[in-house]
Amino acid sequence: MMVTEPTSPQPFEVTAATPSSRASPSTGEPGVVIEPMRRRHLRGVLRIEGRTSTTPWSLGLFVAELGRGDQRVYLVAREESRVAGYAGALLVAGEAHITTIAVDPDRQGNSIGRRLLLALVRRCIDLGTGAATLEVRASNEAALALYRPFAFVPAGVRKGYYSKPVEDALVLWAHDVARPEYAARLAAIEAALPTPLRVEDLAPAPADPSEGTLP
Ligand SMILES: CC(C)(COP(=O)(O)OP(=O)(O)OC[C@H]1O[C@@H](n2cnc3c(N)ncnc32)[C@H](O)[C@@H]1OP(=O)(O)O)[C@@H](O)C(=O)NCCC(=O)NCCS
Repeated sequence: MMVTEPTSPQPFEVTAATPSSRASPSTGEPGVVIEPMRRRHLRGVLRIEGRTSTTPWSLGLFVAELGRGDQRVYLVAREESRVAGYAGALLVAGEAHITTIAVDPDRQGNSIGRRLLLALVRRCIDLGTGAATLEVRASNEAALALYRPFAFVPAGVRKGYYSKPVEDALVLWAHDVARPEYAARLAAIEAALPTPLRVEDLAPAPADPSEGTLP
């Protein structure tokens, strides 16, 4: 996945804090909380980025991405004060381009990636997305297995898209994500999680995504 280089970073602000209707009641255990990525998370994000990517994003790139709040969604998975993973998307013309998703190698295989993708896709849909796309290394079995239940299907190949090592990218798309059938798919994925999904501190989406400003 790639994004363009940063320009004029600004602080990322969440304008209102309301519990998600999908948040579960506290069980008394720390658990995984999905919440908006903020600058204070970036040390933890970069630690994971450095362990999961051969071409890691820089601090400046993350800061710039967070500064584009009206065109981006970036979330972290937090376990107590520790960042366990993150995911992000670029919103353009009713489409969500998922730009990054990664989980701490020490915490992989615990449904954290699935929680992040659930929350990310729902957030993008709430903000007006009708289809979602991403690139993935052709050999990345873990990521492909993560995306499959979300109905991401191959639509093309970008030859030699990745470096270190050079590899083709599969271009995946999930279509019609704003339809009730897709909401039911997401609900089924959520219902199969081992513990409830907790999503916190997302600002309310505008009533009409085509007119409103994003958080
Ligand atoms: C891809 C990634 C985000 C998945 O996160 P995760 O928290 O480990 O995934 P989950 O525990 O939510 O698992 C979701 C599904 O992915 C699949 N999966 C996860 N790890 C896997 C692995 N090592 N091998 C094969 N499938 C795997 C499983 O099918 C799993 O479903 P299951 O629990 O029913 O078997 C994580 O492996 C990662 O950070 N990889 C490095 C960064 C990366 O490749 N990002 C994707 C770029 S396109």
